[in-house]
Amino acid sequence: MTPASDENVQSNPPSPVAVGPKKSRPDWMLMTAKFLKHGTSIASFSPSSGYLARAMLRGIDFEKAQCIIELGAGTGPITAEILKRIQPHTKLIVVELDPDFCHRLRTRFPNADIAEADASKLEELLDARGIPHVDHVISGLPLPSFPAAVRDAIIRSSAKRLSPEGDFRQLTNMPYVYWKLYGKYFESVKFEIVPLNLPPGGVYTCKGYRTTAPGATPT
Ligand SMILES: C[S@@+](CC[C@H](N)C(=O)[O-])C[C@H]1O[C@@H](n2cnc3c(N)ncnc32)[C@H](O)[C@@H]1O
Repeated sequence: MTPASDENVQSNPPSPVAVGPKKSRPDWMLMTAKFLKHGTSIASFSPSSGYLARAMLRGIDFEKAQCIIELGAGTGPITAEILKRIQPHTKLIVVELDPDFCHRLRTRFPNADIAEADASKLEELLDARGIPHVDHVISGLPLPSFPAAVRDAIIRSSAKRLSPEGDFRQLTNMPYVYWKLYGKYFESVKFEIVPLNLPPGGVYTCKGYRTTAPGATPT
């Protein structure tokens, strides 16, 4: 389902004295409002801190990467860190479902490829751009709260497009809790805690999609 926009909605005609550009809400306020309205599909009260955003990218060889996908970018704290490091030869595709977040991302990063789309359409997005393989999938999606079939499909299509050395990176605001879950999908799962994020968060770095992963064979 496509979420409706919560920004720039005017129920009354503008007051004659209130002329001028509408000042947009700070990121944390927009994220909190979205969380209160949409709950588990947002799954976070506030955008990730710089600590968590940088941890998501730790160890990536930006000289080598040909294509990076970010899923569930929100207001863009991780996008900003990727764009600081990315090289001219690397393609970045940022996927976000919510129209207000997409508007904010496009305003903030006018040269970035922002796809307002469901992450489960990942393969279609790649095919439309003629991209066969991806080096890193950087996921801010609240995967544990998705229906199992949707989570399975997103992880399966990400893994199918990963290059042999590629990895799937997943952020969390619940350290260690989902290690076992991601271990069902990937042979190697490493976790780095980020205690300075509020709330404390962390990053799972996953490699080697299991042939026995849930949903590995689509029904
Ligand atoms: C926990 S927030 C993370 C936002 C941002 N990456 C950060 O670190 O602050 C999850 C984001 O995933 C987005 N999202 C949820 N379901 C999605 C889907 N099916 N496809 C694409 N984005 C989705 C939400 O709109 C939200 O922006």
